[in-house]
Amino acid sequence: MHNLIISGGKRLDGSVNIHGAKNSVLPLICATVLADGKSVLHNCPDLSDVWAALSIIEFLGLTYKKSGSDVEIISECPSYYEIPDSLMSSMRSSVMFLGAILARKNRAVISLPGGCKLGPRPIDIHISALSRLGVRVSNKNGKLEFSAKSGLKGADVFLKFPSVGATENVMMAAATAKGTTRIFNAAKEPEIKDLADFLNKAGADISGAGTGSIVINGAEKLSGAEHTVIPDRIETATYMSAAAVTGGRITFNNVNLEHISAISGVFAECGCEITGENDEFSISAPQRLKSVKRVVTGVYPGFPTDAGPLLVGALSSADGRSVFYERIFKNRYVFAGELKKLGADIRVSGPVAVVNGTDKLRGAQCACTDLRGGAALIIAALRAKGETRIGNICHIKRGYEQIADNLKRLGADIIET
Ligand code: UD1
Repeated sequence: MHNLIISGGKRLDGSVNIHGAKNSVLPLICATVLADGKSVLHNCPDLSDVWAALSIIEFLGLTYKKSGSDVEIISECPSYYEIPDSLMSSMRSSVMFLGAILARKNRAVISLPGGCKLGPRPIDIHISALSRLGVRVSNKNGKLEFSAKSGLKGADVFLKFPSVGATENVMMAAATAKGTTRIFNAAKEPEIKDLADFLNKAGADISGAGTGSIVINGAEKLSGAEHTVIPDRIETATYMSAAAVTGGRITFNNVNLEHISAISGVFAECGCEITGENDEFSISAPQRLKSVKRVVTGVYPGFPTDAGPLLVGALSSADGRSVFYERIFKNRYVFAGELKKLGADIRVSGPVAVVNGTDKLRGAQCACTDLRGGAALIIAALRAKGETRIGNICHIKRGYEQIADNLKRLGADIIET
């Protein structure tokens, strides 16, 4: 199954059950490495990135069982401290195993996760933060070797940018370090709080997660815990975009409206109406969206970079000009060339994308360049006249469970071939 074929123009109507968050479950899987015994993660989405993380779990000598949306991981001190290149390169988030392996083995060897289509993704913030905990790093033939010969020690860590991954790595490394770690300018994303909640259930002592200052008092040991993954706010934004672009109405279950405040604000500006409660709400869209003056991405609680492409896809058929300003990734708009094949009028200049809405989107053959860019193509195709064939959908499988089935149930004309 490598293509999606969409015949646009169908209004979407119905309800969607949002899955567990990809960006939560991946660090949570890494965190189970720290906790002796059985951990159970509920609401775990079925994504290729999740399977990639579970392959690393298996490689490290731990065992797992996945049944439905539950994953059970039986953990003990891992047998290995090196993650082979083939597993490292399977997903960017493999770097998230670093903190947990270091905490267990005082050593870790990984290859650089490397750049991706969104631009260079260095790990300098992870490295300088971990070095504050007593970790030394050397580069040997392209492999990064980390070691903390006398064990990890709590310290004050100042992040030059509130990197989500670096905050998570330090939290995991510090959870069983000697003494207290304070992270300043920590990332505040909901996924950080979810990780802290799991670690605290496992016996860690972490406070302040979700704010810019996190305090971690190192615990003697962690034991397996049971946890339900928070709903995926970017998956929610994706189906909101699908409703918006088709003039439809979708009700969401298992969501957290608070996590998507900035996203909802933009949909409201487009003319959509959002009603309901925090964990169940609906969006209804006008026949044609209004353009949005300016969408600026930023760290939480700002407008998330991962939702930028979704709105670009939706607003490419809006009435008027929308301007996007991307502040997190250098090449976020790499998908724009593919979107233009559908007739979108989008001009990218550095971090700015100007989208001149047109009601003349038409089906075309295009291909995913990355996960959220791929979702943007789906959204635009739901509106376009005629048939769109989207290739390279392995990118979409990294972050969406059963997106074709869900859209079909809502009334879209979509098949996977
Ligand atoms: C996480 C999310 C990703 C989201 C991103 C920003 C996961 C699995 N992925 O990625 O979907 O788009 O947050 O919200 O949770 N940076 C450095 N040096 C570093 C680390 C990061 O320069 O050591 C830069 C990155 O290149 C990027 C920015 O900081 O430009 C944000 O990165 P970061 O917050 O670390 O994102 P990730 O954790 O990789």
